[in-house]
This record gives sequence, C-alpha cells and structure tokens, in this order.
Amino acid sequence: MAHIIDGKKIAGDLRAQLAVACETLNQTRGIVPGLAVVLIGNNPASEVYVRMKKKACADVGIASFSHELPADTSQETLLSLIAVLNVDPKIHGILVQLPLPHHIDAATIIQAISPEKDVDGFHPVNAGLLATGSPGLRPCTPLGIMALIENAGMDPSGKHAVIIGRSNIVGKPVALMLLQAHATVTICHSRTHHLDQVVAAGDIVVAAIGQPRFVQGDWIKKGAIVIDVGTNRLDDGSLCGDCDFASAKQRAGAISPAPGGVGPMTIAMLLANTVQAAKQS
Ligand code: GUN
Repeated sequence: MAHIIDGKKIAGDLRAQLAVACETLNQTRGIVPGLAVVLIGNNPASEVYVRMKKKACADVGIASFSHELPADTSQETLLSLIAVLNVDPKIHGILVQLPLPHHIDAATIIQAISPEKDVDGFHPVNAGLLATGSPGLRPCTPLGIMALIENAGMDPSGKHAVIIGRSNIVGKPVALMLLQAHATVTICHSRTHHLDQVVAAGDIVVAAIGQPRFVQGDWIKKGAIVIDVGTNRLDDGSLCGDCDFASAKQRAGAISPAPGGVGPMTIAMLLANTVQAAKQS
C-alpha cells in the first residue's frame, strides 16, 4: 500500500517557514510583502480560490490587496490597473485569477504584468527563464509538485517521469522542472496513443488532465510516485482527482491525494513566490 503524501501538512510546514521569513523581512528591511489579487467576474470556483489565497496571505503576514471587478470590465481598464500595480512599491506580486472573460485576451494581460511581480510565473520572460534553466519566478503548481516529490524521498535524477497534460500552467512547466532535475521526461496528452502503456513506464506519474478518476491503478508501475493534480467536482458535489485513488494506491509507492495533495501546495508556493519577489525588490 502506498505512502500517502500529505500535501496539507507539507504546505503547513512551508507556511510556517514563510511566516518567519515575513517577520524577518519586516524587522530587517521594513518590508511587508504585498500581493495584489485581481478577480474579474464571478466564476464560483475562482471566487473560492481567491478567498483561499487572501486568507493564506493573512496567515503568514503578507498584505493582500483585492481588486474585484465586474465581468464586463474592459481589457483597457484591466491593463490600466496592472500598469498602476506594476509601479506601486507596496505591491511585490500581482495575481490575475484565470480564466478571464472571453472578451479579454489572457496572453495580453499576462504580458502586461511586470516579470518581477509575476508570482504566477506565467509571463513569457519567466517561462523563458525556466526553459533555459535560469533563476526566475516559477509557476506555483509545478513548484508544489516538485516539493511533494522531494518530500516523498525521490530524487528524479535518471528516473522516467510521465506527465499527462500539456498546459502552460502545469504540464509544460513541470516537464521542464523535472528535466532540470535530470529526469527522463515524457509528456502525454489527449492525442497520445496507448496512454496506459506510456504511463506504465513512469517511475513518476503526474496527472494533470482534468478528468475525474481517469488514470487507472493497473496503469501504474509498482512502486511509482503518483502526483494527482486534478480537482474535479462530481455530480454529488464531492471532489476527486484525475486518478482512481482506490486502485492507484494499491500499486504506487507513494501517492498524493486529491483534494489534500497538490492544492494546498499551490497556495503555499504563491506565498513563497510573493516573499521571493519582496526580497528581490
Ligand atoms: N486559475 C487556475 N489556476 C490558476 C493559477 O495558478 N493562477 C491563476 N492566476 N489563475 C489560476
């Protein structure tokens, strides 16, 4: 039976360290790390995430500045807000919650954020720094995934990592991070043939598909580390991951549950990036 990787506990430990770092920044340099949280419209899931992010900031001593704008906010208005936040010395990180309404081009918005304040790590400058292995702000969910793998006691060097999903937020950046950690990396997606056989070769499996209980236990190599990035809501209102947890935990050496695995780590890494941006300001 697999070791269950406790993302809530690992995120809690990281948040405690970040609270100390905030205190030190305040005492030594008089800096209170500041995060601007921008939410457009009223997507219910986004509202929940934004509330969790603001509470997490308060818990560690990061000041959060909320900008909640109506769904019909124009792209120009949002760009003007970002321009103001880019030069505000109280703001070290800018988070624009995705998805945005269809009349706003997400790529244009992300490119307008100063790369030094891009605590989501989505700006092409930060994506390029990641791709070339240079220091920069990294996307939060991939950072959380790497911390969970490390916590499970696995060094990715020489191991085969199989990633299911090729998004800019998770699949692509985590592939680059695993590559930098010297793993052999395979990225799978909706057009991959014989997905079960490809997954079966993975010493590390990262499931970031967005389909409930898609990855079956009998696909998993015995002893593999399985990181489940999915948060899917079922018809009965309950949440589940992208892996069939009951069967996957019978074969995996370690597995992160969903919820309670990657989710808390993503928020903790947003805080870590905000503290990093404040330190570098
Ligand atoms: N929507 C879903 N995940 C994320 C994230 O990591 N950052 C932002 N800004 N929006 C998201």
